[in-house]
Amino acid sequence: MTCGFVRDFLNKLFTNNKKQYIIHLQTTRNNILLKTNNIKPQKAEGIYIMKILESKFVQGFIKMANDGYLQGWHERNGGNLSYRLKPEEVEMIRPRLNAPGEWIPIGVEVPGLAGEFFLVTGSGKYFRNIIVDPEVCLAIIELDETGMNYRIRWGLVEGGRPTSELPTHLMNHEVKKKLTNGKHRVIYHAHTTNTIALTFVLPLDDKIFTRELWESATECPVVFPDGVGVVGWMVPGGREIAIRTAELMKKYDVVIWAHHGMFCSGEDFDLTFGLLHTVEKSAEILVKILSMTPNKLQTITPDNFRSLAKDFKVSLPEEFLYEKQ
Ligand code: 13P
Ligand code: ZN
Repeated sequence: MTCGFVRDFLNKLFTNNKKQYIIHLQTTRNNILLKTNNIKPQKAEGIYIMKILESKFVQGFIKMANDGYLQGWHERNGGNLSYRLKPEEVEMIRPRLNAPGEWIPIGVEVPGLAGEFFLVTGSGKYFRNIIVDPEVCLAIIELDETGMNYRIRWGLVEGGRPTSELPTHLMNHEVKKKLTNGKHRVIYHAHTTNTIALTFVLPLDDKIFTRELWESATECPVVFPDGVGVVGWMVPGGREIAIRTAELMKKYDVVIWAHHGMFCSGEDFDLTFGLLHTVEKSAEILVKILSMTPNKLQTITPDNFRSLAKDFKVSLPEEFLYEKQ
């Protein structure tokens, strides 16, 4: 278990340095092992190497979470992240997993994910602390053979439970696993400032959000050619919003929650982070435009999009290329 003061100390130290570090920290009863990407691991008698923390998928997960924090998308415990482990990753870490505990109901049924393992953020955990104390902030969970229950197999060493948005994460994973033949493994939820701001001034309509975001940055239609879905305000953390979001994930890789944030699905950490980053950047440009004027003097036209689609070999649904009044 890691003491709070060690975490606070490290937070201060590495924030002050203005450099990014990947920190591995584990304590045994008497010793601390500290490893960063700049500092060679210090080994001492009686300390074992943390294989789970050293695995590539955990490192990638921690880096992505910290990148999101540095973007300002994770105030307090805002946002959550989940990753569906590959079978070989499960086998690699299996000897290090905790003995199985009790099964806990997920709150939704995801039979398409029966027996799968996920790395997830903990509910109420701050993204800013993940890099310093991953074993406190993260969990590896296992799903049962019905896809109705989970149990914790690693992490959350100071107690707690997986993110309150676990129903939405798992329902999205189930949809995407099926639709992408297992390629998509990452679901990311962030409180993206500019995208949230737009949900107060644009009609909450998939077609309008997609078109406005596409128009705000040329790369957008290439990065999210299927467009974005929008969910009107709903109570977060439950079954209803999970069902609504997963329904939209059948069509889109991006779903915006009005007055709340964004969900993205992708194959790996880079692609999923890059997708959410691109949508949010475009939203930022649109917020700036709307802050200057309600009328654009010029923009990217439907025919411009058609030319772009041809050259970049993407297909852009005509439903988003309507003529504006
Ligand atoms: P959790 O801390 O339970 O993950 O909730 C954060 C959040 O963003 C809810 O939508
Ligand atoms: Zn949220």
